[in-house]
Amino acid sequence: MRLLAEFIVRRARFDDLGKVIEINRKCLPENYPEWFFRDHLVNWGEAFLVAEVNGEVVGYVMCRVEFGLGITVKGLVRRGHVISLAVLPEHRRKGIATALMKEALKALKEKYGCKEVYLEVRVSNLPAIRLYEKLGFKRVKVIPMYYADGEDAYLMARSLEDFSSFRSFTHDLRL
Ligand code: ACO
Ligand code: ZN
Repeated sequence: MRLLAEFIVRRARFDDLGKVIEINRKCLPENYPEWFFRDHLVNWGEAFLVAEVNGEVVGYVMCRVEFGLGITVKGLVRRGHVISLAVLPEHRRKGIATALMKEALKALKEKYGCKEVYLEVRVSNLPAIRLYEKLGFKRVKVIPMYYADGEDAYLMARSLEDFSSFRSFTHDLRL
């Protein structure tokens, strides 16, 4: 039998930031001060999303919008930059990060007019690299010593010109 439950993806609110910061510290070595999260929420709130299970925030994605030379497309473009993504360990492998990312890509494209999206990820972070590849990101290059502990990053990017999303904000959750 396959049991179904639900999670929702919605825009982050200021009163979510405490929980978002807690998830960030639990899941990633790259941590930021409270003002950094607040700044992203103020400026790019459409692409700062949280996932909720039974009313509890269990994951987030935080993005920003930049202007620069395209990586996957020609010329000067608006680019989405995925700054941080995490899902609490006990809620992983249920499609939550996929849903957060799809909703973020949709917002970057439709609300902010981004032509592409990129991110950095540790070369050892296979779960995240697989997730991004499934979402159509390609490894563009290695950035040597990107992280504070000396690890390299992959720069991964995807054009948003061929990205379309037709889903609702509610998702089936595989248990
Ligand atoms: N091993 C192998 N593949 C994996 C794994 C894993 N542990 N986790 C996810 N994947 C791949 C699979 O292909 C998976 O599809 P499947 O379950 O059908 O096989 C696909 O990604 C989608 O997985 P989701 O369920 O959507 O991802 P999840 O909600 O578990 O979250 C995440 C993935 C965010 C990477 C989570 O493991 C996490 O929070 N890790 C720690 C923080 C982190 O590494 N964040 C990304 C850093 S890079 C950045 O922030 C820009
Ligand atoms: Zn980055």
